[in-house]
Amino acid sequence: MCGIVGYTGKSSALSPVLEGLRRLEYRGYDSAGIALTLKPGAPLWVEKRAGKLENLEGSLTPDVPKSHSGIGHTRWATHGGPTDTNAHPHLDNEGKLALIHNGIIENYVELRAALEAKGHTFKSETDTESVVHLLSDARKAHNGDLAAAMRDICQELRGSFTLLAIHSDDPERIVGARRNSPLVVGVGDGENFLASDVAAFIAHTKRALELGQDEVVDITPSSITITDLLGNILPHNEYEISWDASAAERGGYTHFMLKEIYEQPKAILDTLIGRTAGLDASITSALNFEAVSKVVIIACGTAYHAGLVGKYAIEKWAGIPVDVEYASEYRYRDPSVDGSTLVIPISQSGETMDTLMAMRYAKTHGAQVFSVCNTNGSTIPRESDAVLYTHAGPEIAVASTKAFATQLIAMYLVGLHLGLARGVITPEFVTQMGDELSELPAKVEQVLETVEPLRELTRKFKDSSSMLFLGRHVGFPTALEGALKLKELAYMHAEGFPGGELKHGPIALIDQGTPVIAIMPAAGSLLAEKMASNVQEVKARGAVVIAISDGPVPAADHVIRIPSAHEFLQPVLSVVPLQVIAYEMALARGNDVDQPRNLAKSVTVE
Ligand code: G6P
Repeated sequence: MCGIVGYTGKSSALSPVLEGLRRLEYRGYDSAGIALTLKPGAPLWVEKRAGKLENLEGSLTPDVPKSHSGIGHTRWATHGGPTDTNAHPHLDNEGKLALIHNGIIENYVELRAALEAKGHTFKSETDTESVVHLLSDARKAHNGDLAAAMRDICQELRGSFTLLAIHSDDPERIVGARRNSPLVVGVGDGENFLASDVAAFIAHTKRALELGQDEVVDITPSSITITDLLGNILPHNEYEISWDASAAERGGYTHFMLKEIYEQPKAILDTLIGRTAGLDASITSALNFEAVSKVVIIACGTAYHAGLVGKYAIEKWAGIPVDVEYASEYRYRDPSVDGSTLVIPISQSGETMDTLMAMRYAKTHGAQVFSVCNTNGSTIPRESDAVLYTHAGPEIAVASTKAFATQLIAMYLVGLHLGLARGVITPEFVTQMGDELSELPAKVEQVLETVEPLRELTRKFKDSSSMLFLGRHVGFPTALEGALKLKELAYMHAEGFPGGELKHGPIALIDQGTPVIAIMPAAGSLLAEKMASNVQEVKARGAVVIAISDGPVPAADHVIRIPSAHEFLQPVLSVVPLQVIAYEMALARGNDVDQPRNLAKSVTVE
């Protein structure tokens, strides 16, 4: 939700800033803009354009002046539509100070009124513009000290923000600040970077610094100073990024989503390594599992669906009641939570604001927090008591695929560990499930080898107005995930239902030719028979049924065969064809696969 990048160093700044924006565009693509500093006192060079980054790139002429420091922004609009004027950077009235922002300034109305009363003129409809005017005044009050000014104004701002600012009088300096939104520092050699995400500078340096809540960072090519809002210098907590630039590139695939679908076997393997026999010691020592009498999983979007599968596994294997909550709803209904509650936030990015806020609520009410996250050093794991990192690698496509697969694996691992710790399951069962889990990468590979016919099949339904997804048991959350993928990518009405719920309403949606995807439970099981009846029910009303199954489904019009697996593990396999169908449908309908309309990958506003 808005990508932010800053560069100061020996190179020409335009290139690393543009490159950073390209890598961060998944965070928002309503508009993009850049500001560069020139010689001390010379006016800033600023260019910004509504629409995707390519619009901005297309507007750049070869005579962009040489600069060694600059900031760039790619926007997911909140306050003010996606226009050139509302695009960031925003400037103060003298045109000397430029600012970019990710987040929402909740008190911008009061700030704007006060600033206008003082004579400031506003150009945009954004909440951000108030900040640049405020910062401009504060900088003057601090005799040109931009970092001191930033510290001051952060105390006046309410809401969430990552801010970066540059001033024409001090061209090598970039000052940043963060509260509830991400900001990382890239440590280079004679050059330094600031960005929402390490992907922005991974091609230049693998050394990164974490920035904590309410911290201000001041960088030049040769220095990095981090302080709290009172100006106290804070120690640097440097880490090395464990993946390289190629992991964040398409590598021969037409889309990141396709690449990420095909990376699932490796992502699952990497997440399982060393964990089938037990969770990492850093987790078990940080948590008191004996005290847990209830588990609450909080998440959004795809991660929520992984949590729903987790409920089945954890309740069955650990015998503990599990609630799965939409993070955005959780804290607003005064939920019952205390020290006996284990809260599990699941988040690919580790910075989804709804999930973060729900987690903080639970923590302040005494819960133990054990997050499942894919992004090292992001806010959610930093604020958790323990974290189980999924090792999916960077996920760039907005629609989540490989992160989902690894979140499912994390849920199984948590279920098995809790079950063993509570004596509900035996070590033998854990070993048996460990073996089953270890077979998943090869089985997903097998599914991927057989998805080719799905291309043609999907195209048959490209003009359908709606598609329904049915599942039972863990197949139900899988159905929800299949429907979400289709909505996100194909902009098509899609809904997932429990097979048994069909007769209580949704069956009225079935018409001649309505495509229905049935996620069949394991062949031969009781539930498979029940689902077979549901397939007959929709067929009798004109539906065209595509079944995903590990066995034959005589009533279905098309059967997509997947390998057999333990019934709880089946979603890892059955979701793959659903991802491919959504991908193919997006292509068939001419949609942008990696950057679907209106969406953003990291949603850092509530
Ligand atoms: C956004 C993304 C979804 C994602 C959800 C949760 O809505 O578009 O793909 O599932 O956020 O993201 P998280 O990073 O917390 O897993």
